[in-house]
Amino acid sequence: MFLLLIPVLGLPFSLRDARAQSVTQPDKHVTVSEEGLLELKCNYSYSGAPYLFWYVQYPSQGLQLLLKYLSGPPLVEGIKGFKAEFKKDETSFYLRKTSALWSDSAKYFCVLGDTVPKSAGGAEHKL
Ligand SMILES: *[C@@H]1O[C@H](CO)[C@@H](O)[C@H](O)[C@H]1NC(C)=O
Repeated sequence: MFLLLIPVLGLPFSLRDARAQSVTQPDKHVTVSEEGLLELKCNYSYSGAPYLFWYVQYPSQGLQLLLKYLSGPPLVEGIKGFKAEFKKDETSFYLRKTSALWSDSAKYFCVLGDTVPKSAGGAEHKL
């Protein structure tokens, strides 16, 4: 059995309006068996209609957008077999992939709002 160690980082972020908001990713590290389910948690706190993003950062690479939820159907499909479901009632946006691969070992960022913090080494993401 292969194991992946996936550091999951919650980040500060900014929004153009000043309402209180945040994201939490309770698991600092997530271990997944090869061909197993990869699930990365993310709960948000935001009073309005959130824009939610999952980014990945592979070793020595920049941030890459996996998927985003802006509005519409809550189940979002992204690249590399990743999906995430927006659950408004539970204020969550969990990232899932049904058969994780070694190459999925990376840092994952759940981001609320329209901007990726520069401290993460990413470019700004404009809507
Ligand atoms: C986070 O999301 C999960 C899954 O949707 C939900 O069960 C839980 O209540 C949420 N936690 C908080 C603190 O909102």
